Amino acid sequence: MNQEERIITGQEQAADIWQFSLRPRLLSEYIGQEQVKKNMAVFIKAAAERKEALDHVLLFGPPGLGKTTLANIIANELNVNIRITSGPAIERQGDLAAILTNLGDNDVLFIDEIHRLSKTVEEVLYSAMEDFALDIIIGKGPSARSVRLDLPKFTLIGATTRAGAIAAPLRDRFGVLCRLEFYQKQELKLIVTRAAEILGVAIDEGGADEIARRSRGTPRVANRLLKRVRDFAQVFGTNEINISVAKEALLRLEVDESGLDRNDKRILEAIVKIFGGGPVGIETIAAAVSEETDTIEDVYEPYLMQLGLLQRTPRGRMATCETYKYLGLPCPSKENENR
Ligand code: ADE
Repeated sequence: MNQEERIITGQEQAADIWQFSLRPRLLSEYIGQEQVKKNMAVFIKAAAERKEALDHVLLFGPPGLGKTTLANIIANELNVNIRITSGPAIERQGDLAAILTNLGDNDVLFIDEIHRLSKTVEEVLYSAMEDFALDIIIGKGPSARSVRLDLPKFTLIGATTRAGAIAAPLRDRFGVLCRLEFYQKQELKLIVTRAAEILGVAIDEGGADEIARRSRGTPRVANRLLKRVRDFAQVFGTNEINISVAKEALLRLEVDESGLDRNDKRILEAIVKIFGGGPVGIETIAAAVSEETDTIEDVYEPYLMQLGLLQRTPRGRMATCETYKYLGLPCPSKENENR
């Protein structure tokens, strides 16, 4: 299914542009990811005191957890400019050279989806990251010569949903590796409450709790649900978002108690009903539910695994007893009990 149509996808949608206004600008406004925040605060302070560029940072984790937001905050806290681009947008070595030569001292270059950089571009990045220099070939044939171009000291912040897809030589050039985790419900409640305040909509404890619980541990989803629930509250004539309007709205949006929708259910049903609970290969599941393998791996699976509804094993994906319970089926017999 097109992720643009799913209200609970962590992937960014064109209609999420409004969420920019909700983004925290400082580490102190950023809710959750406590470990990452504490460490980043130290690295930022140290680099600023030395008046040096911060070491290169790799942020990884499922979509919608705030990788871009964090990159912006880091640049803001360092009081430097940020240039934002993405792996697929840098097609040629020349594109990267143009970006790098236009950076100022200690600036941040943010490359989203860095695992999608082409091999040739990635190779140019190695010397840029390590030596702050570019080796470019001028001319062709026997008269071709290599010229070394010095670059300003800069910080590369790379973001990826899959740390495993980054080649070791690239990964090794990042001094700081940060894994972003799904948010706790309490943290999402605070995020929803903060967003409601910025949007000027009243929300009570129960309403925030209900939205937080169904947001798949993901702020981008929480904010998106908040906006839709606000529409229901307005049209129902409730002047604040409370638990009953939130429940009714989320029922109509087909987001269940755990934050799953029809597509998650289709994946779980395919594993249980078509493939006997697994193990089954990801490609086979993708074909059965007509979905892209990458989308299943990056968007659906992380949260299903977090809930204990899916297991990744070397032999393939497997259902758990929880999966059967979720689908209202009895867990298969003794010999399968430790699935
Ligand atoms: N909005 C989106 N993510 C947020 C976060 N981590 N903290 C505060 N507001 C947010």
